[in-house]
Amino acid sequence: MIDFKKAIAEVLATAVEGLTAEEIYGMIEIPGDAKMGDYAFPCFRLAKTMRKAPQMIAAGVAEAIKDNKMFNKVEQVNAYVNMFMDRGEFTVQTVASVAEEKDDFGRSELGKGKLAIVEFSSPNIAKPFHIGHIRSTVIGNSIYKIYDFLGYETVRINHLGDYGTQFGKMIVAYRRWGKKEDVIAEPIKTLLSYYVKFHEEAEADPSLEEEARATFTRLENGEPEETELWQWFRDESLKEFMRVYNMLGIEFDSYAGESFYSDKMQRVLDELREKGLLKLSEGAQIVDLEEAKLPPALITKSDGSSLYITRDIAAALYRKEHYNFDKNIYVVASQQNLHFQQWFKVVEMMGYDWAKECVHVPFGLVSLEEGTMSTRHGRVVFLEDVLKGAVEKTSQIIREKSIAKGHLSEEEMEETAKMVGIGAVMFNELSNMKIKDYTFKWEKVLNFEGETGPYVQYTHARAATVLRNAEDALKKALEDPKAVDTSYISSDSAYELAKLIYRFPEVIVDAGEKYEPSIITRHVVDIAQGFNKFYHDEHILVDNEEEKKAKVLLTYAAKQTIKNGLALLGIAAPEKM
Ligand code: ARG
Repeated sequence: MIDFKKAIAEVLATAVEGLTAEEIYGMIEIPGDAKMGDYAFPCFRLAKTMRKAPQMIAAGVAEAIKDNKMFNKVEQVNAYVNMFMDRGEFTVQTVASVAEEKDDFGRSELGKGKLAIVEFSSPNIAKPFHIGHIRSTVIGNSIYKIYDFLGYETVRINHLGDYGTQFGKMIVAYRRWGKKEDVIAEPIKTLLSYYVKFHEEAEADPSLEEEARATFTRLENGEPEETELWQWFRDESLKEFMRVYNMLGIEFDSYAGESFYSDKMQRVLDELREKGLLKLSEGAQIVDLEEAKLPPALITKSDGSSLYITRDIAAALYRKEHYNFDKNIYVVASQQNLHFQQWFKVVEMMGYDWAKECVHVPFGLVSLEEGTMSTRHGRVVFLEDVLKGAVEKTSQIIREKSIAKGHLSEEEMEETAKMVGIGAVMFNELSNMKIKDYTFKWEKVLNFEGETGPYVQYTHARAATVLRNAEDALKKALEDPKAVDTSYISSDSAYELAKLIYRFPEVIVDAGEKYEPSIITRHVVDIAQGFNKFYHDEHILVDNEEEKKAKVLLTYAAKQTIKNGLALLGIAAPEKM
């Protein structure tokens, strides 16, 4: 797609002394108020080299470039050169790019030849996969899609919490009180109840703790009986997780969780010792991080068993060697900020300069209206139940809406309810700046009018319907998109829409750099609103063939861009609603 800012920078370079086109490129602004033009160039910096008042310079520059056909109007206002694009030229170039690139519109090669690991979701086995996990799962999935679109080779890792002393407890509890059938029937709820019972019983009988520790050591040593039980707990838990991932349409390339590193830990210990980083402290081994003003990293406990942080260090070393990543991204709650600071620092102290390629992408808490959930108080809300609830509620809403219109078959209705219900929950998750805490509210998630998933999907379906009713005109327009008569798509609302579409590729780059999918969510809402404004202001399906072709082409570009945006969020774009 043509880069108008770059083209403008080149034109400005011919009229300005002492600045290269690249320097000018960095100085060009996009005014917040469209009355000040589409692009503006501030001349303050030029006063020194050109020895004139900035206003005078701006006036001279404006005069020098005003006849370029890219512009409709160029004005000097104070120290600024305000440039108004020729709407027809701008719009037709934009929609033609979309028509040509289609599902790839917005894709770039920024990350070509580079590899990005995105680690996300990573729930703990034998524990509920609850609403709190939705954030890492959905945000991480979107970050993966963004990096893929930016041209990176990607690896999605689910770093399952499938190891640690709690499995000693669970095995002990299962042996004492467990029933196989119960675990098979409802693995997570059952295993969790064993875990709870263990803690209750251990209060009266502390020897249970001792037994659990010994059992975990047996597991760490690969004893067959413990390993088999643990493997079974893991398999059953994973089955439950997979149901949720399937509903969300999310996949992983690797499920190498914490247990995967159990045989890769000794090497970390040896290396830390060789590099003189390991210290003994009350029987435990630590890395002192005082220099970095951080609390020490606890590497092994006094009983010798390994820890979460050690497994993360082992995982990072393994990933560097195995995948040779250029970026190693961790989408994990902000409660773990300190954990990541600590072990990134340890890796840096080990002398690995790729420590700086490791990125922690934190996010805030999700709470429910009733109050924050808590596993301890049994107020946990399973993610699977939330998703099912969303589909059910959506099904009711769509049924009411579409029975009135009668345009969806029963089957289509069910399909759509899934796309919209699940999409609504995901969209909601991706609308908030990820670092903010937020409260999950049904009325907000499923609102068809607000800035929500259903609203955007509905807009997409509306555009699709327009296109279905103008198949011929669309076909002709797509044969030679640049030949459409742009005078029909130069109104304010058409132009505002074209500008939003044009900016889509930049928005993706920005979202990728900031690890912030909500930037895309915001933009997709803007495009949907832009299209709806155009749709209300203009008659699209008019009799005049040329007018219809032009308007249908813009509709097509809006629909395609919304679809590509939703795809980056991991959300389906229904053709009918
Ligand atoms: N399993 C952990 C939890 O549920 C999250 C794991 C995060 N990833 C990591 N590499 N430490 O809290």
